[in-house]
Amino acid sequence: MTIHIGARPGDIAPTVLMPGDPFRARWAAETFLTDAVCVTQVRGMLGYTGTWNGHRVTIQGSGMGMPSLSIYANELIRDYDAQTLIRIGSCGGMQPQVGIRDVILAMTASTLSTPSRGIFRELNFAPCADYGLLAAAHQAAQAQGVKTHVGGIYSSDVFYDERPDLNEQMIRHGILGVEMEAAELYILAARYGRRALAVLTVSDHLITQEALPAEDRERSFGDMVHIALTAAFA
Ligand code: HPA
Repeated sequence: MTIHIGARPGDIAPTVLMPGDPFRARWAAETFLTDAVCVTQVRGMLGYTGTWNGHRVTIQGSGMGMPSLSIYANELIRDYDAQTLIRIGSCGGMQPQVGIRDVILAMTASTLSTPSRGIFRELNFAPCADYGLLAAAHQAAQAQGVKTHVGGIYSSDVFYDERPDLNEQMIRHGILGVEMEAAELYILAARYGRRALAVLTVSDHLITQEALPAEDRERSFGDMVHIALTAAFA
């Protein structure tokens, strides 16, 4: 047990999928894993371990924002020895060619700040995905017929953004989408020599103001879980 994860040693698999929403962790575990068992529910942040195609997998909620994800990812890596961590979540589209329901594989994650800012200070560290996972996820998405974009995303600290000028600069520089967790996950994976990737579904769009209808959310989320699982064990 750690401060924020109630699982016993050995309850967490080397491969961990991390949705922001704990109820999505439960849905994905019940839908995709065999013999899924709830291994932690501290603060309602549910985590499940089961098997997929014979491989042990944990699906652990991260909460919203980098400070929350950082707590869970630190403990998964340092205390439970997680080796592969894949964020599965939603993002806001930032380019005209990126449509609602499309999947974005985040090659890099730009930020204003992360919980690791104190280490880097004046250095602009470039958080990036594990290339093997990225390539495998791209192949899996193509095989599934899911429209997919690979490129840079922006991990913001705020959902209700009072700096529209920053979004304009992100759009101007080709950033595909905005979410709130990937950059810190990539930095922690780099620090501890683990593999990380963010697989994101476009749930809303900053230019067109479109949003994914509620009835489509489950199917899009399922596509993402399947891509993540296939990439993890490719
Ligand atoms: N901003 C930040 N995070 C998000 C968004 C957004 O528009 N959509 C989904 N996650």
